[in-house]
Amino acid sequence: MDSDAYLKIKKEYDIKREKALADAKARREAIYLKYPKLGELENEKNMLAIKITQNILRLDELNRQIEQDNMQLKLENIDKKIEKELKSIGIDKEELEPNYECKNCNDTGVINNNGTTEYCHCFLQKVINETYKQTNISKIDEENFDTFDLGFYSNNVDYEKYGIKKSPRQNIESIKKIALDFVDNVDNPSQKNLLFVGNTGLGKTFLANAIAKKMLDNAKSVIYQTAPIFMDKIMEFKFSQGADKSQYYKIFDVDLLIIDDLGTETMTNNKYTELFNIINTRLLNNKKILISTNLTLNELYERYDERVISRLIGEFRICKFVGDDIRLKKKRLNI
Ligand SMILES: Nc1ncnc2c1ncn2[C@@H]1O[C@H](COP(=O)(O)OP(=O)(O)OP(=O)(O)O)[C@@H](O)[C@H]1O
Ligand SMILES: [Mg+2]
Ligand SMILES: [Zn+2]
Repeated sequence: MDSDAYLKIKKEYDIKREKALADAKARREAIYLKYPKLGELENEKNMLAIKITQNILRLDELNRQIEQDNMQLKLENIDKKIEKELKSIGIDKEELEPNYECKNCNDTGVINNNGTTEYCHCFLQKVINETYKQTNISKIDEENFDTFDLGFYSNNVDYEKYGIKKSPRQNIESIKKIALDFVDNVDNPSQKNLLFVGNTGLGKTFLANAIAKKMLDNAKSVIYQTAPIFMDKIMEFKFSQGADKSQYYKIFDVDLLIIDDLGTETMTNNKYTELFNIINTRLLNNKKILISTNLTLNELYERYDERVISRLIGEFRICKFVGDDIRLKKKRLNI
């Protein structure tokens, strides 16, 4: 186990949770200062909770039960009053509670699964991000299906220019739909993998980000890296002693592996063998892959072994991005 990554993230979680608790406490105090009646009710509730705990230690069972039921009723009563009070002053109940990033584990990083303690999916994903240096993953807050802007794609049908018989807008609309279907069916064996091809600045990385975000929102695990960094990382795992093999195996195991910018890596025989071993193994185990590249199909055939590529291509759905460089458009518009 890569204890460094685990320890580092555990520490981050402790800080994150403490901050959520402290923020909630500050919010509560400010609200109680403004609405003292709420504060009194909260106090009453806390006192009662203490009494309930003390009562559990009582010896005579019959009275204990009666008292317990009685106090439980009182507690519910106070809760109702608090709710009513909050409603009348227009404050959402959630404002009093800590705002945890993960509602699944309340930022503890662990969950209880039928009596056994397990790492929460959010924690395991953070370990992957750390191990695979996935700093690019932070981009998913900006580049996702909610911010996806079809307006950057021309409505003109221009076969000469774009090489297809529909407009770039129609084209990207259907690719977007394919992408959404892909996420929904990522575990389905009949779902094909995705290959994004197309010139620079047409939104391949943007859409890969959007897919990554949706996967993570669905509590799926993702390794997402550009080909050069990914290949270096693989070589590091493979050939450096003491490398954390359990993290290496994640490459075969995560729900989705995204390799961005295939073709920009420097290829060696070792890397080549390793890359196709990874892709093959994942295909055999029905683990999905998304590859994006600037290369044309012909260039892919030239760069990699033609036989390998042609077999692989059959397992991928090819999405060809067309249009005008959005990066340039944005530069012109100053956004
Ligand atoms: N659908 C979209 N809505 C809004 N902005 C977009 C969209 N698609 C792409 N962009 C923006 O356009 C720029 C280029 O997009 P992106 O990086 O995804 O292109 P690319 O196809 O991956 O290019 P390259 O082949 O050079 O890697 C980025 O700034 C990105 O945020
Ligand atoms: Mg890109
Ligand atoms: Zn969690």
